Amino acid sequence: MLHASTLALAGLVSTAVAETVHGVVVFSRHGDRTTKHFGAQVLTPLGAQQCFQVGSEYRARYFASDSPHRINGISEFQHVAAQVWASAPDQSILLGTATSFLQGLYPPLGDIQASDVSMQLANSSSVSNPLSGYQYVTLHGINDDSPETVWIKGDDDCPVVAAASADFKTSAEYKSRLASTRDFYRSLYPLVHEIYLSADNLSYAKAYDIFDVINVENLHNATSPARNVTADQLFQLRTLADSAEFGLNYNNSQPARSLHARTLAASVLSHLNETVNSAGQNPKFALLAGSYDTFLAFFGLANLTAASPDFFGLPDYASTMAFELFTPGAAFDKDDLHVRYLFKNGSTGAIKSFPLFGSGKADCVGRLCQRHAAARPEHRGGVVQRLPERGRLLRRVQQRRQVRRGCHVVCCWWWRDDSVLSRGGSIAVLVVMAVAILGNLIWAAMWLVRRKGGRRRRPLRGWERPSKRAQPSDKESV
Ligand SMILES: *[C@@H]1O[C@H](CO)[C@@H](O)[C@H](O)[C@H]1NC(C)=O
Ligand SMILES: *[C@@H]1O[C@H](CO)[C@@H](O)[C@H](O)[C@H]1NC(C)=O
Ligand SMILES: *[C@@H]1O[C@H](CO)[C@@H](O)[C@H](O)[C@H]1NC(C)=O
Ligand SMILES: *[C@@H]1O[C@H](CO)[C@@H](O)[C@H](O)[C@H]1NC(C)=O
Ligand SMILES: *[C@@H]1O[C@H](CO)[C@@H](O)[C@H](O)[C@H]1NC(C)=O
Ligand SMILES: *[C@@H]1O[C@H](CO)[C@@H](O)[C@H](O)[C@H]1NC(C)=O
Ligand SMILES: *[C@@H]1O[C@H](CO)[C@@H](O)[C@H](O)[C@H]1NC(C)=O
Ligand SMILES: *[C@@H]1O[C@H](CO)[C@@H](O)[C@H](O)[C@H]1NC(C)=O
Repeated sequence: MLHASTLALAGLVSTAVAETVHGVVVFSRHGDRTTKHFGAQVLTPLGAQQCFQVGSEYRARYFASDSPHRINGISEFQHVAAQVWASAPDQSILLGTATSFLQGLYPPLGDIQASDVSMQLANSSSVSNPLSGYQYVTLHGINDDSPETVWIKGDDDCPVVAAASADFKTSAEYKSRLASTRDFYRSLYPLVHEIYLSADNLSYAKAYDIFDVINVENLHNATSPARNVTADQLFQLRTLADSAEFGLNYNNSQPARSLHARTLAASVLSHLNETVNSAGQNPKFALLAGSYDTFLAFFGLANLTAASPDFFGLPDYASTMAFELFTPGAAFDKDDLHVRYLFKNGSTGAIKSFPLFGSGKADCVGRLCQRHAAARPEHRGGVVQRLPERGRLLRRVQQRRQVRRGCHVVCCWWWRDDSVLSRGGSIAVLVVMAVAILGNLIWAAMWLVRRKGGRRRRPLRGWERPSKRAQPSDKESV
């Protein structure tokens, strides 16, 4: 069934011909922040610097007139609104991440193109934006309750992902690591005795939390006992957190665990598709800010771990992945479009290309196409089937998301894994869950339909968006 979901790549090796980049989508992790352990975490100045630095590097790659990867027709210095789309969930760290990145992408005009900085008034005096011609790039914040959140953070509040992810804790792999690392974690208690109640609180079950606390304290707090952590211990903590988080976000035999990577892929496709639909005109550059769990899920889904085992590891702060839409020649040719995948680890790594889907070819190029079994009727649950609106709304969302060559992409709100429904729990729970999912589906569909131009605003009687029913999970959002 969902194993039938395929990600096809017609791999080709890129040659040295003058290719032309037409559009790029960048997905960024946040920069350095305070620990999540206490909640209310914030982006630090170091984090803002990291994102700014990364934005500058993308500027050098895609905007500079002397760059071989320059996006065709992009304004080199002055921000042109139609060329850029930037979006982040309504969370200060991610909004700050996107803002800092955009500041690097479009520095104040006074610093880079002084001749364009001022505007002349009728009385001949000239005025420029504050802060030496600061450039204001529109950033679209996505509210937690908006159906649009699925594209960047498809795991948040998605019961299917939460349930699949929780399954990791029942795996043999998890249990054996829990047992084999118990002593190691307990031995670290002196480093964090002010934060955790007892050594019993420390185990692989909290691998990321413990790593995060020690890593952040070690970096930021000169008087913290965590400063005494050794390089070996920190490495061990990080790699254990890597394995736990990868496990929570990807399992080859359980596609639901990485649904958020599928929705991200859908989002990337949809942004690139807009560029395609305008024949390479606009938008040219999209920035999305999100979390490491989406990165890890995508690494698994796109089989990047076959390209390098480094992809089993958490991406550093301010890591980015980019999807470059290009044609091998100079002209925009709708029938000869290719997508290249790039990853930059943290703010210091190089922007490097990697082959997707285990194709094994360095700097591989190809068509990105995601097909998903969700489009098949047999995967639609019986409970949901009763509702008359469902089929039509589904089709509508589906049509919106169809890729050119007949492939489909999926949003978690209209996909359910039958195994989730048949697994334990009473029928009532299942119905509630199905209704929650259905409610979200309808909400999402309504939203999309409304956004599409207000056709068919028939109210859906009796169905309101349900309150959040996400199961508690150890998945980390930011
Ligand atoms: C021109 O107009 C601007 C805006 O009203 C004003 O601030 C400025 O002082 C004027 N300059 C002159 C030379 O009158
Ligand atoms: C992956 O999923 C399979 C099938 O559901 C399960 O048997 C296995 O334990 C899972 N592995 C991990 C690490 O979650
Ligand atoms: C530590 O464990 C105790 C029970 O064993 C629990 O009540 C407490 O919330 C835990 N504290 C932390 C910080 O994890
Ligand atoms: C730094 O660590 C010390 C010792 O654990 C603690 O008392 C203090 O609150 C910490 N400072 C900050 C800013 O977290
Ligand atoms: C680090 O360990 C030493 C020796 O155990 C101790 O004296 C010192 O206070 C510790 N440092 C901090 C910051 O807790
Ligand atoms: C990124 O860097 C971290 C360590 O800083 C490493 O664990 C991880 O494997 C790296 N990822 C990739 C894809 O290089
Ligand atoms: C990933 O790619 C490798 C190398 O091509 C291949 O052997 C493996 O089956 C792929 N894994 C998945 C899950 O597609
Ligand atoms: C791409 O755009 C075309 C034309 O608007 C549309 O039919 C198709 O569904 C879009 N595909 C995606 C993935 O958004």
